[in-house]
Amino acid sequence: MSHKVTLIPGEGIGPEVAAAAQRVIDASGAKLEWEEIHARASEGSEKGQLLNKAVIESVKRNRVALKGPMATAIAGGPPSVNVALRKTLDLYANLRPVKNVPGVQSRFENVDVVLVRENTEDLYSGLEHEVVPGVVESLKIITEKASTRIAHFAFEYAKRHGRKKIHAIHKANIMKLSDGLFLKSIRAVAEKYPDIEYKELIVDNACMQMVLKPEQYDVLLLPNLYGDVMSDLAAGLVGGLGVVPSGNIGDQAAMFEAVHGTAPDIAGKGLANPTALLMSSVMMLDHLNESSAARRIQAALEKVYREAKHTTHDVGGKAGTAEFTDAVISALD
Ligand code: NAI
Repeated sequence: MSHKVTLIPGEGIGPEVAAAAQRVIDASGAKLEWEEIHARASEGSEKGQLLNKAVIESVKRNRVALKGPMATAIAGGPPSVNVALRKTLDLYANLRPVKNVPGVQSRFENVDVVLVRENTEDLYSGLEHEVVPGVVESLKIITEKASTRIAHFAFEYAKRHGRKKIHAIHKANIMKLSDGLFLKSIRAVAEKYPDIEYKELIVDNACMQMVLKPEQYDVLLLPNLYGDVMSDLAAGLVGGLGVVPSGNIGDQAAMFEAVHGTAPDIAGKGLANPTALLMSSVMMLDHLNESSAARRIQAALEKVYREAKHTTHDVGGKAGTAEFTDAVISALD
């Protein structure tokens, strides 16, 4: 049986890396049928409409999407399409495995950490207003419901994947109520998993420990903002954003995407590294139980990096997107 997957090409380097991932997946033997749809509402749409309604309907119907990055204006402009997609589809768990890729240069070895980031609330609630001129307020929303739900997701993930330790990351010494509720909710869930070691760390210390001894971490459980910051930090330890995948998972649907953004500095130049989206595709294929195609793509990527003849600029190579993608396709068993 083939799976129908919504393909959101994205913006900037998005269409380049999405096309590369699509080529590799199609060559891997996975039985997928693509439904390509743009996520941003077109210019003539109803005023204030951010998301293309058809993309929501498509992901709800297919229950799985592969997505390229989408740009968000800084300090003004419309809200983030990425955040709107995650919230509208209630993709509450952002799963970001960060691991050394053999052949990719990095300062650390033995990094193998999975970040589980709450994806629907915290300072990403988008509730900001001007109180009086010169004073603004941004609401950090933390609920017991969302904190308990993400904790269950993290502990279940750890159990299923043989992970031994979970660190909850917080700043509850200062944000006693909001991060305090996040921690209280997690502690209640942690009690039900006596086989998984549970620890808590304040976010600033957690960042320092991450660059001193990243190998001590197994699974990190974080509210939305700390999760965003610490996943880029972790990515830097294994060679950068070009090699880190992610999944946005909910009860009804899942959307897989790279951690990186639209890379406007290299967009349209044929230089983008599609590895992160390919690794996200591997996560997607596992999610769809297309495990043999997933393993083939993973093995092909490892081979291309081990040989280091056709890797892209961001990881110290000389190849462009097309040459790298061709090399991965040739390396498929
Ligand atoms: P970025 O991730 O787009 O770029 C940061 C640096 O990494 C740049 O030098 C870029 O060239 C490089 N880079 C990123 N991906 C690469 C790849 N695949 N191959 C080679 N080099 C790569 O981050 P930035 O510049 O902060 O954000 C640009 C835009 O992307 C913004 O509008 C931002 O809102 C959006 N963004 C979207 C995300 C998403 O759709 N999930 C995630 C992060 C940012």
